[in-house]
Amino acid sequence: MALQRRQFLLLLGAAAGGLSLPSKANSARQQGRLPFQPVRTPLPLPSDGLSPQQQRQAYRVVRINDTLNLPEGYDQQLLASWGDPVGSSRFGFNNDFLAFRQIGADAALLTVNFEYISPLPWHQGFTAITGQPLPYDAVVAALASTGGKRDVWGNAPEADLKAAINTVATEALRDQGIGVLRLKRAGNGNWERSSGAEDRRITGLAGLNDPKQRLRSSGPATAVFRLAKRQGYDDGLGNRIIGTFANCAGGTTPWGTVLSAEENFQSQVPEAVYADGSAMAPSAMPFRCQDQRLYGLGNPFGLAGNKYGWMVEIDPANPGDSGTKHTALGRFRHEAVAVRARSGEPLHVYSGCDRRGGHLYRFLSDGVVSNPNDPANSALLHNGTLYGAVFNPDGTGTWIALTPNTPIQPLAAPVQVPHSNRSKAGSESLNNAQDIAAYRQRYGNLGALYRGDGEAQLGALLIDAHLAANAAGITPTARPEDTVLDPASGDLLVTFTSGMPGSEGTPDPAIFRGPQGQSPWNEGWIMRLSEQGENRFRWQMVATGGEPADGGLGFANPDNLAVDPTGALWMVTDIGTGSQNNPKFNGGTFGNNSCWVIPSHGPQAGEAFCFATGPMECELTGLALTPSADQLFLAVQHPGERHGRRNGNAEEARRFQVQLSNGEALTQQRWVPLGSNWPSHRSGAVPKPSVVLIRRRDGQALLS
Ligand code: FEO
Ligand code: CA
Ligand code: CA
Repeated sequence: MALQRRQFLLLLGAAAGGLSLPSKANSARQQGRLPFQPVRTPLPLPSDGLSPQQQRQAYRVVRINDTLNLPEGYDQQLLASWGDPVGSSRFGFNNDFLAFRQIGADAALLTVNFEYISPLPWHQGFTAITGQPLPYDAVVAALASTGGKRDVWGNAPEADLKAAINTVATEALRDQGIGVLRLKRAGNGNWERSSGAEDRRITGLAGLNDPKQRLRSSGPATAVFRLAKRQGYDDGLGNRIIGTFANCAGGTTPWGTVLSAEENFQSQVPEAVYADGSAMAPSAMPFRCQDQRLYGLGNPFGLAGNKYGWMVEIDPANPGDSGTKHTALGRFRHEAVAVRARSGEPLHVYSGCDRRGGHLYRFLSDGVVSNPNDPANSALLHNGTLYGAVFNPDGTGTWIALTPNTPIQPLAAPVQVPHSNRSKAGSESLNNAQDIAAYRQRYGNLGALYRGDGEAQLGALLIDAHLAANAAGITPTARPEDTVLDPASGDLLVTFTSGMPGSEGTPDPAIFRGPQGQSPWNEGWIMRLSEQGENRFRWQMVATGGEPADGGLGFANPDNLAVDPTGALWMVTDIGTGSQNNPKFNGGTFGNNSCWVIPSHGPQAGEAFCFATGPMECELTGLALTPSADQLFLAVQHPGERHGRRNGNAEEARRFQVQLSNGEALTQQRWVPLGSNWPSHRSGAVPKPSVVLIRRRDGQALLS
């Protein structure tokens, strides 16, 4: 803990005596402590203010509750829930990123991402919430004998089943994508929903029937989309795209647009591509529907896999804008994005690929920013260079450009690289040093792997960015989640949510270590990255998850981040649903997902304080603050994901080994509700992903 705190202060410039505070820092906070008593988690923490003896009593038996728990003195108000009307459509499922943009003294726009479908609570609640029938159970029954799968695109079933599958897939894609909500300021100062021409949805099937609603695309991959002849599948739509889905986190630009990141698109369409960047046929990923599984949603509609996994820009204030996918930023499992626009410099755009062994990327525009607030800056996203981050154990790092001239030099085996049979789509694994040497011998640079001339070849490379980055020796990381710029220092903050190895890759163990050198380390990090001139940077972990007795700050699996005007970091966690409150899995000890504050100055600087714990089986996401940080928009994603609606007082007693602040062990009995009734709290009610507004009861800034 002490070491972590020193690191945090050092990086903020505080340890050298020059406490560097943002200009708007509040003087009370500057000298004082946080204005809230932290919310209790099931894990004993130094911030609970208890002695080890008191902790032994307080944490022996713990009851988790199915509510959004806030500190005393803070209120929550439901802003929007799944199924609420939005324009001509509805508020989607699994709300994630939130972007708040004030457009007048009492008017604002909230842009919301809808990431994915949690099949159980979604089909349990669909009819009650939308008023429409959903033939989910019929489809599950019809596909039971084929493992829940059907290649509807390549082998259409009889008419009734085809219609039923189409309904399920259509509604599931309608509940994904992007939404824009107009807000107004109420008499009490709270932001609440209003209505306006901006209210709209851009769904996973936008433009399927109305070509005018199709998304646009920019950048090198558009040359691939327009190829007259290709190795793989042609959807016949050229550079236009049907829909956006898997929209996880995102970012905002200084010119007022919102960037929405397509993350786990590979669950719905084929990810693997050919050497010319073209997609596999939709049949490569059949539609799949079971009680807890819903995949391959693109199959019935013939969606082309190479058109998803991009960064989408929309102008929330322009009702006619259905979004543009900027392919120069690369195609991978984009989690989030941070944009640095400074006059006289290229636009810097940072984004991570959230998979085990995924990479951190930076895009530099060819053109230079003149006025950071100029909407014409969108055009800077059309052309530039994508880089991958190479981290060195000594705290330095290098950005490597991903271009046809980039040498092939994969890091340690095993590593997934573009398949050496270039007539095949996808990857192969290089399993030893000999494999790597032979691959390097065969393909000297990335250009040798990708077909096409000029822009089309670069487009093919960018479509396959993750495998190209593996081939170029970019560092495999620990599932990068959010990327945000610290307004005080201009540095990039990156959350890495988990350092466990997986089938797709292993985070570099020299970089991603626990606070006491442990490897692998599940509980995650927040990293600060400082640019050091052209293509060089320095990095340092400024906060590490984990139990305090193991050197962690008391949280697990950090995800979205925000920095408020006092310089405090706000962070939400993403412990996997199956791991939450499960003593058999990493992260189970930490309870439900939660929201934390890490002050950057004052006596509590560098420590983590729990501000909120979420309802059952959810993830807290979004995390948008108003500019004065007097109101916080928080999204509660997938409540009840594992058990669906909670019936009666269904709960289970589980036994945990936890550690007191002095390191002594305690056996804890933890009562865990099964499923959720949030936000209605009515027994038997279906849980609904929703956005809440949080405010301090006295109306002051949240941390003043
Ligand atoms: Fe959708 Fe990586 O969180
Ligand atoms: Ca996330
Ligand atoms: Ca996540």
